[in-house]
Amino acid sequence: MQIEILANYGDLSLRAAEIIAELVRQRPGTVLGLPTGSTPEGCYAALRHSGVSFAQVQTFNLDEYLGLGPEHPQSYHAFMREQLFAHIDLPADQTHLPNGLAPDPVTECQRYEAAIRTAGGLDLVMLGLGQNGHIGFNEPGTPFASRTRPVRLAANTRNANARFFGSPNAVPAKALTMGIGTILEAREILLLAAGEAKADAVRRLLTDPPSPDLPASALLEHPRVRVLLDHAAAELIPGRLQFTVP
Ligand code: GLP
Repeated sequence: MQIEILANYGDLSLRAAEIIAELVRQRPGTVLGLPTGSTPEGCYAALRHSGVSFAQVQTFNLDEYLGLGPEHPQSYHAFMREQLFAHIDLPADQTHLPNGLAPDPVTECQRYEAAIRTAGGLDLVMLGLGQNGHIGFNEPGTPFASRTRPVRLAANTRNANARFFGSPNAVPAKALTMGIGTILEAREILLLAAGEAKADAVRRLLTDPPSPDLPASALLEHPRVRVLLDHAAAELIPGRLQFTVP
């Protein structure tokens, strides 16, 4: 894992955007895996103004709430439109998210996996980090070989995401998520974590042996992972000065 500790969230966001923009410049048909949540918002804002053409890019989001349609304001479809897709030259039919209203969620997940394969696989997946160490909606206990599937959300995940819905009970109980095995097949992974709420999950990731108790620790098995942290998220890492970007 290559770790970079940036001075603050703004620098982290610019660095993430620079990595993605450079990849797309070099390979215009890049296939990206994209996260939602607060963490990538700064990166998406920077990409909106990067001047890079996404005309040949394909995107696959990590997850979607089960039961929310693309027009629901708290759906990840809506989030992606507002944060990124509406502002760049990426054709809508090259953006992909699991359909939260699919009549058969298991078949929908198989369709999603097949679409990723048809696109040639994921070149780079950007990930946020749950406070409990989840990636996508792969909660603690998820086998590292898991594929895209319907999942039940952990109580602490629903609490963490309640800010978007008004209350934890209003957060859907289930979601469709790319599996950890699916994520690990990406050629490159970029993990972002910002803020002190992530510091303990980051410490566990970088000091403990890999375990399904911390889904993000599956990334330790991948040969090309870059981790971007701000100071607050890095504050519990022993010897963190060696990773600090001047
Ligand atoms: C959600 C998403 C994850 C995201 C995580 C962290 O549960 N499914 O993909 O990484 O929350 O969110 P935030 O960036 O808002 O802290």
